[in-house]
Amino acid sequence: MADPKRAEFADLLREDRSFSPPPEFTARAVVRDDRIYAEADRDPEAFWARFAGELEWSRRWDTVLDWQPPHAKWFVGGKINASVNCLDRHVRGPRRNKAALIWEGEPGDRRTLTYFDLFRQVSAFANVLTSLGVRKGDRVAIYLPLIPELAISMLACARIGAVHSVVFGGFSAESLRDRINDSQCRVLITADGGFRRGQIVALKQVADEALADTPSIENVVVVQRGHAEMPVHIKEGRDHWYHRLMQDASYKCDPEPMDAEDMLYILYTSGTTGKPKGIVHTTAGYLVGTYATTKLVFDLREDDVYWCTADIGWVTGHSYVVYGPLANGATVVMYEGAPDWPKKDRFWSLIETYGVTVFYTAPTAIRAFMKWGTEWPKKRDLSSLRLLGSVGEPINPEAWVWYYHFIGGDRCPVVDTWWQTETGAIMITPLPGVTTLKPGSATRPFPGIAAEIRNERGEKVDVGGGLLALTRPWPSMLRGIYGDPERYVRQYWNKWGSGVYVTGDGAKRDADGCFWLLGRVDDVINVAGHRIGTMEVESALVDHPGVAEAAVVGRAHEIKGQAIAAFVTVKEGTHATKDLADVLKEHVVKKIGAIARPDDILFTADLPKTRSGKIMRRLLRDIAEGKALGDTTTLADPAVVAKLKANYEEEYG
Ligand code: WT7
Repeated sequence: MADPKRAEFADLLREDRSFSPPPEFTARAVVRDDRIYAEADRDPEAFWARFAGELEWSRRWDTVLDWQPPHAKWFVGGKINASVNCLDRHVRGPRRNKAALIWEGEPGDRRTLTYFDLFRQVSAFANVLTSLGVRKGDRVAIYLPLIPELAISMLACARIGAVHSVVFGGFSAESLRDRINDSQCRVLITADGGFRRGQIVALKQVADEALADTPSIENVVVVQRGHAEMPVHIKEGRDHWYHRLMQDASYKCDPEPMDAEDMLYILYTSGTTGKPKGIVHTTAGYLVGTYATTKLVFDLREDDVYWCTADIGWVTGHSYVVYGPLANGATVVMYEGAPDWPKKDRFWSLIETYGVTVFYTAPTAIRAFMKWGTEWPKKRDLSSLRLLGSVGEPINPEAWVWYYHFIGGDRCPVVDTWWQTETGAIMITPLPGVTTLKPGSATRPFPGIAAEIRNERGEKVDVGGGLLALTRPWPSMLRGIYGDPERYVRQYWNKWGSGVYVTGDGAKRDADGCFWLLGRVDDVINVAGHRIGTMEVESALVDHPGVAEAAVVGRAHEIKGQAIAAFVTVKEGTHATKDLADVLKEHVVKKIGAIARPDDILFTADLPKTRSGKIMRRLLRDIAEGKALGDTTTLADPAVVAKLKANYEEEYG
């Protein structure tokens, strides 16, 4: 990076420093000393039950945990409703008129919903869903931009016991269709469109394409995003405008008392096969996990203004835009659009405007801000901030230190939080009033969580590198993969005996017991904090009639963490041209969504394979990263690799 702006913070790049919590932070923190770790370790069930006891139940649980590895039931016998805990509980007390959601649309439109507003809208929409025939246990797909109706829809589902399945608005029609069909959703909630970098994303049009082949959908609810004219086709009898349905809906809706283990939602995520899996979360444990982690990791106080920049289409938005902060009665900022629209200070302007105190974002964003230069944050008053968070990918110490200094003004602890869609809540993280921070390390497991590094043989590594495993169940853990109970066991619990959860991440543990996350060790890549399966992209590529074979790898990328490199062999009679490369990139976008667009496509006559015919992705990664090649002795034809490497360097080197 030959960037002149680098000089500005070159003196900050000493990576061996550590940062103890400022005493004035600790003095007011939710957790002020580290006894909580020992307490939780002594009796993890009692620890979690303490947080469960802070929530509202319609029937208290009988047993905290029933663990038949790898199947867990938490708070057995309890009855609870998530929307009650996010809304009714607050509306009855002094938070009634507190801002629950402060929303800003990309064009600059604003809406603030108090807890009472949100309660009324959720209840009304819950009644709408019931009037459309949605019953407890039915699945409802949600395909919306980041607007308040997204949170309203989720909580309305939770209120009546319907299972929501949110699909990120950037996914393609095919991706939406497959997700709807996999879980047989009865209703789809979508919008005419949304805004992204000044452009209108015509969501309903994409949804219409999906709806051509989703027989389980009986009704579609369409939110009108705003004044802008967005082209919408309304199919009589099936499609209904949200605002029309809401007009006469009553806002009195008795919540469904849900069994602790009733399903709350399904969220699809990429795995090591071509087909995304529907991760299942249940009601009570998920709520307890997100409630407790939000409270302790983000150190929430009554007057905080909390902003997590994630889209609700990902798990971060589910846990830390909706359920965790609302269960805590926090004021949540939501912003619809891009960080560089209309200018590169949009995030900082939002922090200034709303007085954000706790800010949670991804390393990709931080690295982009670094590249754009410090003049953007310097233009804005960021003095309201008191705590910063990072999530989604490993944060390099350089980005950590930049974030700490230029955004946090050297006064805000940075919590680097490691977790996954499957874990439901934060697993490895500092506690900001307690933990000494090391840039680049997520530090230690959250109280009550047991994490270990293991080598391939499953032996525990006290100091050193290996695979990250979780060795004790936790309340917000996934309960399964929708429709595929066998894959749940095989994918996560089969490597080292049925009580050990395999994360798919590599990590190391240092002599102080701090964890350093090193990225995925499986065929999952992390592009700009978005999880993508290499096999999914490969399937999308070979779906094109000109492609014979494709191998996809993640290569290191300065901003996005990883970029997608695809090695493609074409069929006889197809010409491997630059135009074809562009066509193939668009083909992947069409099949999956823009997040999966390959950065590099390299045509090749052959792919490096082992003698047993397995594509050697490790070698392809080395090629894409311009590294010296590792061991090629098991290759069927080492010349293939040498040739590939030469071609790649010519094309992208
Ligand atoms: C994968 C999970 C969990 C929220 C968003 C992503 C990577 C996540 C960190 C972190 C290093 C991280 C891991 C993990 N990851 N947070 N703080 N440091 N890596 O959820 O889409 O399920 O992806 O994201 O590789 O396995 P996800």
